[in-house]
Amino acid sequence: MKRKLLLIAAVAAAAVPMLASAQFAKPEDAIKYRQSALTVMGTHFSRLGAMVTGKTPWDTATAQYNIAVVNAVHNLAFAGFVPGSDKGTTKADPKIWSDQAGFTKARDNLYAAVGKLNDAGKSGNEAAIKTAFGDTGKTCKGCHDDYRMK
Ligand code: HEC
Repeated sequence: MKRKLLLIAAVAAAAVPMLASAQFAKPEDAIKYRQSALTVMGTHFSRLGAMVTGKTPWDTATAQYNIAVVNAVHNLAFAGFVPGSDKGTTKADPKIWSDQAGFTKARDNLYAAVGKLNDAGKSGNEAAIKTAFGDTGKTCKGCHDDYRMK
């Protein structure tokens, strides 16, 4: 049973890139989807940031909750950068589609950083969480500088 579930999960994961464009009826749907996912991630990342910078009091359980949400949603947005969704109410730079290797690298930097942030969250170590928060923030900024329009 467990093996069957694992197999289903593997097939589903492999199918995601293939189905990415088919999953959205129109480009605006993809844009809305990715912006929504980024908004949720950004909201919880900012709440964590407020504690890291001392704007709100430090609370480890709250930090862990915000990290868990960031970890759960951080890869969702990237299914929404489908071909043809570079126009409309979006700040996505067309470079995303002309320089896919660079965009993928920027995305993978985020994935790696969130992986470490998640480990730090599980450890509950305040200093480790603060360091990982800073490192993750650099990957947000790195991609925004290159692939998000002002
Ligand atoms: C690999 C590139 C990339 C990374 C990494 C990235 N973003 Fe973004 N982000 C974008 C792009 C592109 C947009 C513009 C999307 C659009 O308007 O269609 C965006 C938009 C946003 C938005 C605005 C969403 C809206 O409502 O329009 C927020 C908030 C955001 N990002 C937060 C973050 C945070 C926080 C991180 C890091 C934890 C992060 N992003 C990492 C590329 C990235």
